[in-house]
Amino acid sequence: MIKADGKVFILNTKNTTYAFRVMETGQLEHLYYGRLIHEDEPSVLNEKRAFAPGNTVTYNPEHPELTLEDVRLETSAIGKGDFREPMVEVICADGSSTLDFVYDSYQVINCKPELQGLPSSYDEDDNAKTLEVTLKDKNHGFKLILSYSIFEECDVITRSARFVNSSEESVKLTRMLSMVLDYDKPGMKITSFHGSWTREMNKADVVLTAGKLVNSSFTGTSSNRCNPFFMVSEADTTETDGDVWGFNLVYSGNHYSASEVSPWGKTRVAYGINPQNFSWTLEAGEEFQAPEAVITYSGDGYRQMSLNMHDFVREHITRGTWKYKERPILINSWEASYFDFTDKSLVKLAKVAKDTGVELFVMDDGWFGERNDDKRALGDWDIVNKKKLPGGLEGLAKKINDLGLMFGLWVEPEMINVDSELYRKHPDWAIDIPGMDHAEGRNQRLLDLCNPEVVDYMIEAMSEVFATPGLSYIKWDMNRNFSDYYSKYLPAEKQQEVSHRYVLGFYRLLRTLAEKFPDILMEGCASGGNRFDLGALCYYPQIWASDNTDAVSRLTIQNGYSYAYPQSTYTAHVSACPNHQTLRVTPIESRFAVASFGVLGYELNLNDAKAEDIASVKAQIELYKKYRKTLQFGDFYRLKNGNIVEWSIVDKNKNTAVTMLMQREIMAGEQYLRIDQAGLDNDSKYHFFGRKLEYNLKGFGDLVNTVAPVHIKQDGVLHNVIAKFVKMPGESEDFVASGDTLNNVGVKLAQSFVGTGYNEQVRYFPDFGARLYFAEKI
Ligand code: GLA
Repeated sequence: MIKADGKVFILNTKNTTYAFRVMETGQLEHLYYGRLIHEDEPSVLNEKRAFAPGNTVTYNPEHPELTLEDVRLETSAIGKGDFREPMVEVICADGSSTLDFVYDSYQVINCKPELQGLPSSYDEDDNAKTLEVTLKDKNHGFKLILSYSIFEECDVITRSARFVNSSEESVKLTRMLSMVLDYDKPGMKITSFHGSWTREMNKADVVLTAGKLVNSSFTGTSSNRCNPFFMVSEADTTETDGDVWGFNLVYSGNHYSASEVSPWGKTRVAYGINPQNFSWTLEAGEEFQAPEAVITYSGDGYRQMSLNMHDFVREHITRGTWKYKERPILINSWEASYFDFTDKSLVKLAKVAKDTGVELFVMDDGWFGERNDDKRALGDWDIVNKKKLPGGLEGLAKKINDLGLMFGLWVEPEMINVDSELYRKHPDWAIDIPGMDHAEGRNQRLLDLCNPEVVDYMIEAMSEVFATPGLSYIKWDMNRNFSDYYSKYLPAEKQQEVSHRYVLGFYRLLRTLAEKFPDILMEGCASGGNRFDLGALCYYPQIWASDNTDAVSRLTIQNGYSYAYPQSTYTAHVSACPNHQTLRVTPIESRFAVASFGVLGYELNLNDAKAEDIASVKAQIELYKKYRKTLQFGDFYRLKNGNIVEWSIVDKNKNTAVTMLMQREIMAGEQYLRIDQAGLDNDSKYHFFGRKLEYNLKGFGDLVNTVAPVHIKQDGVLHNVIAKFVKMPGESEDFVASGDTLNNVGVKLAQSFVGTGYNEQVRYFPDFGARLYFAEKI
């Protein structure tokens, strides 16, 4: 609900209130953002001011009490005494930069409008409402339009801003963020998510008592270095208790958030496009649209904040045919054979995959031009490598379809190799600076998507590929960070527009293809998670979370994503061991357990796999299909995140829960483990059971001699023969319990192996062991 009267603005969602007002001087003062309040007299929220402190700049002679430096503001600029992070910065025609935005008008719109040129949230049911407040710069007449959309059910408010050059002269925007939000205290905990290739989404907490903390990317993408998502919370907020505000940005380029504590003990958060190497010239009458920021508040800890974000992303960001459609289980050829394949080897892999229950076969990189390594051919999408695929894409697609599998393809449309036909024809289409040495990144360059001709060409080239008969899926990769920022298409004075114009070009390319081929499932990828953001998720319902498929690494990576993104958005594959990124060996059931808490796929050479592993894969897929809807679209709970990691997913009707427990390292003598549950219906009874597994005798090494009638040499012929026929039974967990018991007490599990004996009551739980448990409403 939006209450607005031109003086006070109150935005209520189901459980939260956001309020601001127009001060006598015209600026918008932020009043409150937190738990829902029903306030008829909002002036009680006002800060009281009598005299501005010494050494501050006061707003004007009539207002000696007012220093903008100490007011919580809805927007901010420089030049009028607010020394904190501005939201907007300009260079005016006369060279000055001072802005003074004051209230002009407002309107309430009964929907969620689209943003010009940028992806944004939407509301199919038209329940969302939008408040637009127009501010006017007192001196130049520029307009700043602040938009607030409310999504009541998921307790989300989105904010964006538009700068309109309603002056007579041109102006240069040198910073145009989407929002600022001011808190009335210091000491807030800022949590952001950092990493690199194969190490995405490591959570980092900083309690900010003074100074400034910046979380920003300059790779040209939203970046694996630091995701745009971050949280502000009380220092003692926990998973289930305390205040937390989550922030995300619907943008795939360079982002920026600065959290800053002022000398007067207030914390400002400023958020939007990274102003580094950014400027944008607006002629009279032109406008600039900043991307949409998404914010949510929970008074009940991180869990509820994540659930709000998950609901919002599923319902208001992802769209199209695959929004809520169960995602197919795929096998991807990359880690199975890298560049080294032919249609014969692919079909051979597809056949075994089909037998295990896989539904979609994806041919990764290496199918076009002379692409036998990563040094050449990007751009040559019209030249299928006939040595590898004599029947072309269509021929292979048919063979795969004939096996009863969907067919999918890898592409990297934004890139070009110097060694490619496309580059030889259009060297001017690559981003580089003429006459200068170029930095390298995976031997490839970015295409200049600032140039509409390049985008048009790519739409055409990709349309040909997407139109391959029998194609159902595309993996859209992007493997290069920006360097040598320069567009030969733009004049010198617009070169600081390159990174944002590239993103706009990328969105036009992606949007056009998504609209033209609505049934193709698109999966985003950027060397794994180098472009994992809400902008990309407007077009790709799922993104390859990381090139790291190691189950232990994935615990951290997927745990990180889970704060902001629902599990239907990140894909996870079971791969071979030793793992190709870490050389770690983990049990295949653990690889499956972790991967099934994202969108499950396989990426290994099943033709070389042991019969035992093939049997495991078959059983895994059968199980996954049974619980797929819950696993992909249920509510995600983080329950433990230490040496033991526990995640649980509960379907929206609270009928079914699937829970995963994984151990990083075995602790000798630690006998008992409890599994916690959350989100079940307190008043119902559930059948609780564990997945029953059998274990390879060889996992017990030469302990076999403690029970064998004859001596067995470890790894000897006899040991191997016995292991083939004798399996060690796993423990079983099976009983009925009430929802409130499971939610509040949890379940005490069978004892772990402690070195003194083994039978069916004992959990065999080595390093990296994992278990799956189920609760089904009776
Ligand atoms: C990137 C992707 C991988 C794979 C390769 C192919 O690294 O993240 O999954 O597709 O490119 O070159």
